[in-house]
Amino acid sequence: MPASTRRQTMLSGIQPTAIPHLGNYLGAIRNWATLQKDFNYFLFIADWHALTIPQPAEELRENVFKLVAYLLASGIDPQYCTIFIQSHIPEHLELSWILNCMTYMGELNRMTQFKDKSKKAEENLNAGLFSYPVLQAADILIYRAHFVPVGEDQRQHIELTRNLAERFNRRYKKKVLVVPEPYIKSDGGRVMDLQDPMAKMSKSGAFSNGIIFLNDSDDMILRKVKSAVTDSQQSIALANISPGIANLAEIYAILSNEPVQQVLESFDGKMYGQFKLQVAERIIDTIRPIRETAQRYLVDRKFLHEVLLEGSKKARKVARETLGDVFEATGLLMEKQLS
Ligand code: AMP
Ligand code: TRP
Repeated sequence: MPASTRRQTMLSGIQPTAIPHLGNYLGAIRNWATLQKDFNYFLFIADWHALTIPQPAEELRENVFKLVAYLLASGIDPQYCTIFIQSHIPEHLELSWILNCMTYMGELNRMTQFKDKSKKAEENLNAGLFSYPVLQAADILIYRAHFVPVGEDQRQHIELTRNLAERFNRRYKKKVLVVPEPYIKSDGGRVMDLQDPMAKMSKSGAFSNGIIFLNDSDDMILRKVKSAVTDSQQSIALANISPGIANLAEIYAILSNEPVQQVLESFDGKMYGQFKLQVAERIIDTIRPIRETAQRYLVDRKFLHEVLLEGSKKARKVARETLGDVFEATGLLMEKQLS
């Protein structure tokens, strides 16, 4: 087990709303698997966050297991990474309440994700959706994380988290909470929808044909890549690369560890059909072992249960410690002080 004391802490959360797709894998999960060895790493399934949008109960339960299976199959290693389910650590919610009492309505009103989601969820504009970023701040601060690897879309939530940590420390004149930094990779990590290369590949994408899920069969991947939208040309011309071709080249480049420019140069003049076959092959070679390993985990759940129980045991210990310091600073009495 790596020494956790001197390492800095990194934390990520992911919502159990669907099987992860190639964008999640290339933009996030793959990087987490690399970073886990150099940090004291916490990774959790944000099931409380998922409830801000109504989910059928059975689907939510299954999605949690599926997500964990796909994370482990993608290289998240419980030997390095503490992986757990958010709702198993009640301290997140306890801290979230305390932070709610120090967050201004105006701050939450300004959150772009809230503005976007509230447009889509007019009939279910619940309070959870509004205070979502406060729970996210608690998720991060309860582990005193130094770094939070996220996509650009989450930068504003991390900014709020920083403000809340600073506000708390200032108000109670004590450095109780660590002010975290966002960790946002500058290169790529923005995989586009194969059917609409101007839009990000997203779980809620309009065409499932444009999204490659980590549980897609080899045939399905081949079919999706073959039908990827390109342009009216037949072959790759370096001087004229359309967004669809650029996206496929980017995927190929990441998977083969080559610069995109080099990939494009090596395929210059080649027919699109031939290029797509090569891209599909790279994706299939990456996804097949992930899919097969995840499916094995899903058949025998015992291992998943063990990993999650072990993860929440470790996480809970840290969360309790931080919450104890928070109670002390704020003047809340701990039950144990009464005995
Ligand atoms: P989400 O699917 O929005 O819960 O995102 C989970 C993680 O995957 C976040 O860190 C996102 O930044 C990342 N991510 C989501 N979609 C993409 C994409 N199309 N390209 C690259 N990264 C993505
Ligand atoms: N809001 C994040 C997303 O939609 C998920 C999340 C919840 C998260 N809590 C977090 C991410 C804490 C990082 C840290 O992707």
